[in-house]
Order: sequence, then structure tokens, then C-alpha cells
Amino acid sequence: MKLAERMSRLGTESAFEVLARAKSLEAEGKEIIHLEIGEPDFDTPDNIREAAVKAIWDGYTHYSAAQGIVELRNAVAEVDSRRKGLEIKPEEVVVTPGAKPIMFFGMLALVDEGDEVIYPNPGFPIYESVIEFLGAKAVPIQLHESKGFSLDVGELKSKITSKTKMMIINSPQNPTGGVIPKEDLEAIAALAVENDFWVLSDEVYSEIIYEGVHNSIAVFPGMRERTIIIDGYSKTYAMTGWRLGYGVMPAELAQAMTQLQINATSCTCTFTQVAGVEGLKGDQAAAKAMVAEFKKRRDVIVEGLNAIDGITCLLPKGAFYVFPNITGTGVTSQELSDKLLYEGGVAVLPGTAFGSFGEGYLRLSYANSVENIRKALASIEKTVAGLKK
Ligand SMILES: Cc1ncc(COP(=O)(O)O)c(C=O)c1O
Repeated sequence: MKLAERMSRLGTESAFEVLARAKSLEAEGKEIIHLEIGEPDFDTPDNIREAAVKAIWDGYTHYSAAQGIVELRNAVAEVDSRRKGLEIKPEEVVVTPGAKPIMFFGMLALVDEGDEVIYPNPGFPIYESVIEFLGAKAVPIQLHESKGFSLDVGELKSKITSKTKMMIINSPQNPTGGVIPKEDLEAIAALAVENDFWVLSDEVYSEIIYEGVHNSIAVFPGMRERTIIIDGYSKTYAMTGWRLGYGVMPAELAQAMTQLQINATSCTCTFTQVAGVEGLKGDQAAAKAMVAEFKKRRDVIVEGLNAIDGITCLLPKGAFYVFPNITGTGVTSQELSDKLLYEGGVAVLPGTAFGSFGEGYLRLSYANSVENIRKALASIEKTVAGLKK
């Protein structure tokens, strides 16, 4: 089959490949502990599920406005203005099936062939994939373990050229769990204003934060008119399968994104949007309990990893991932993750699944029970000890 030339530039998420390999081992009768999956292991809170069922019976089963139902855009404006310390208007909100389309539509709407887009490495693989798909130049900025997996502002300056159209940031971050300190956000904002580029700020983990408060780059002077905030329900409310996300951006860009949505999906599922209003405005107890449980698991997994000879692990401030340094084991990220899957029965991702600067690291998701995390730690310790023999 001859696919369009642009398909050769489209990447993917290898998390799905590792999951498929782990599932086929399970089909052969092997026991696998899943630490590769980037989704909460909790159920969607009851109040949201009930709201969706009611919405179906109430007849919210037709197309909706392409930009998103007014009730949900009002709810985002109200709740996210408070959460992010901004003044968001409903016309600045676009609702999409998951947060991912905001990434895709945002770049489609703003980035031309030949433009340069700076993106975090290690980082969510879809950023690089979409940049290259569009024929733009993907310019990686390294995240450093020594900086709590934030970037070096001096290094960032050296990456900016007259062709820089956009920079992507993600805090709290996948895969490292790192949070960009406020002073770094401020420095990035100043560079964006000075050099006139857009910032695509992926804030899908903004409500899963363990120390301090979430800071959005959009609060800094001159940033509202050049920032697209990506947020959604997948992580905050354990709703990955519902496909509900949104973007906050200047109203003119929201119109362009809506046009892209009309061309691509028509609209986001209508009863899911109604349930989304309950998600943002209803009882937050279940979401808060989930974060408290993640924090306990984070502490268990970080302590356990640091106790293994050859592995060191920073304490992440957000999301539900750890990114341990495995250089002391003497093997590559890919070798260790393969060994852990096939010999240790633990599915994890090599750091390189998130870019070349992920070499020397693994990504483990602690969206699993403390019991399974402890079992996985014992298996990782045994596998790593076996390397030295
Ligand atoms: C950093 C980041 N952004 C966006 C997404 C996509 O979220 P959604 O399920 O809302 O499309 C993910 C999912 O893993 C993610 O890790």
C-alpha cells in the first residue's frame, strides 16, 4: 500500500506497544504487573457517571455546538479561572474528545512547514510526532535530572531562532513527574514575549500535584494572547475512555480550532460534555482521594527504587510517574525494560520511549496498588541483582 508521504513522519506512543506485548505474555499464562500504563487505575467518580447516564435519558444524544456546549464552556471558564488564577471567558474555550486534539489542532492552526517548534525531551512522544508530521522542525530542549527535570533557561535561549513559532511545555510532566518552578515559567514567558512565539502549555496533570500549587504560564504578562492551555478529564477524574478534554486560548484561535473540529469530528460526545459539567462543578472528594492515594504510592515506589543497588530516583512533585536513573545497572533503558518484562514480569517503559534524552532512565507509572508496587519492586531488585552475576 502506498500511504501519503506525510505518514512516514508520523510517530506513535510506544506505551501502547509495550501494553500489547504484556497482554500477549498474559495470554500465554504469565503474570505481569502493569507499570507502563499512563492512566489512573481508579474508576470515574460516581457523580460523573450518574450525570452521564441521566444525560443520555434526558436526550443529550445529538450533535452539539462544535466548540462545545455552553454549559461546559461556562464551567471551564468559572472553575479554571479559579484553579489557574486567570480570567477565562467561555468564548476562549474549545471542548474536544480528549486533550490530545487540542495539541493536534493547535499546531495545525499555527505551525507552518519550515517553522521551528521547541519541545521537551524526554517528553510526551506525540509532541515530536505532530511537529514532524506538519513538516516543521522539531527542536528538542533537554530536561535535566539535576534541575528536578526542568530545563536550563540558558540552553533554551540558544535554541530560539527567528523561525521559532512555538514552544511546548508540560508541567507536571510526563514522563518525569517534574514540575517547572515558577521562576523558570516566568523566564520562559519573558522569552516567548521577547521573541514572539506561542506556548502550548500541557496542563493535563495540573490537579495531580503533591507539593505547592500548580502555576500556569498564562498568568505572566503578555502570555494570554500567546498561550494555548491544554487540560482535560482523563487524568484528573480517571476518565481516559470517555474522551473529554479542552483548550483555553485567545477567542480568535478558538474559532479556528472549532473549524478544525468541524472538519475532523463535528463535535465532542454530547452526554459526555454534560457529565463534564458535573465533573468540574460537582463534589471533588473522589478526585482528591485519588491524589492522596497516589501520593502514598509515590512515596513507596521512590523509597523502594532508591533501595536498589544501581538505581536512584528523584521524588516527583506531580503526575503519577517516576523516572528512575538506571545508569548504575550498566545496561541500557531498552535492555532493562525488556528484561523486566520477559524475566521479571514487570511492564515498564524505557526512558527512550520519550526521546533520546531518556536514555539511562525508565518510566514507571504508579497507577497500581501498593501491593503490586511492592511485588514489582522485589522483582526489579532481583532482576537488577541478576545483571551483576
Ligand atoms: C502529557 C500528556 N498530555 C496529553 C495526554 C492526552 O490526554 P487525553 O487522554 O486527554 O487525550 C497525555 C496522556 O497520556 C499526557 O500524558
